[in-house]
Amino acid sequence: MRVILLIFGALFLLASCTTSGPQHHKKPQIARGEALYLVSCAACHQVNGQGLEGIAPPLEGTRWASESEERLARIVLHGLRGPITLADKEYNLEMPAMGFFDDQDIAAILTYIRAAWGKSDVPVTHETIGRIRTQTRKRTDSWTVDELLDATRLK
Ligand code: HEC
Repeated sequence: MRVILLIFGALFLLASCTTSGPQHHKKPQIARGEALYLVSCAACHQVNGQGLEGIAPPLEGTRWASESEERLARIVLHGLRGPITLADKEYNLEMPAMGFFDDQDIAAILTYIRAAWGKSDVPVTHETIGRIRTQTRKRTDSWTVDELLDATRLK
């Protein structure tokens, strides 16, 4: 009898772990995007998206997080360099290209960023990332802000 109770107890614990984890209420793509953000972007932009002096600007409250998703895709695929002004502060740093992530992963990261700091709950699709990857296939250099704004002017 005791053994049976123990087994039931263990099963109950197991069930409550799988249903009440901290990410229980999140959509799978956002949860995946958050996990990827934490390991691949947060070292520079920080867990809370506030950035770190001399390392990376904030993502929270910037036009980049809330405007064109195609621009965001370009930044992740090829990186960003040169002067950029955010919240009246100028940065002149360099973000490395991270195009080694596949389309699904980049879509998930960007969906998370937009949900967290861009105030948009419309998911970014892997088709969009794939299209931008094809369009920019010949590119070898990172982007400057001017080039990016030019490339996505009508978006
Ligand atoms: C090695 C540090 C580093 C990593 C890792 C990094 N970034 Fe950046 N990021 C930067 C820097 C530095 C800039 C500003 C570049 C400049 O000064 O032109 C930037 C700029 C940006 C911008 C535009 C400006 C803003 O703050 O809104 C976005 C969006 C962005 N990064 C997203 C990402 C995403 C998404 C990831 C993860 C896939 C990522 N970054 C990983 C350093 C990093």
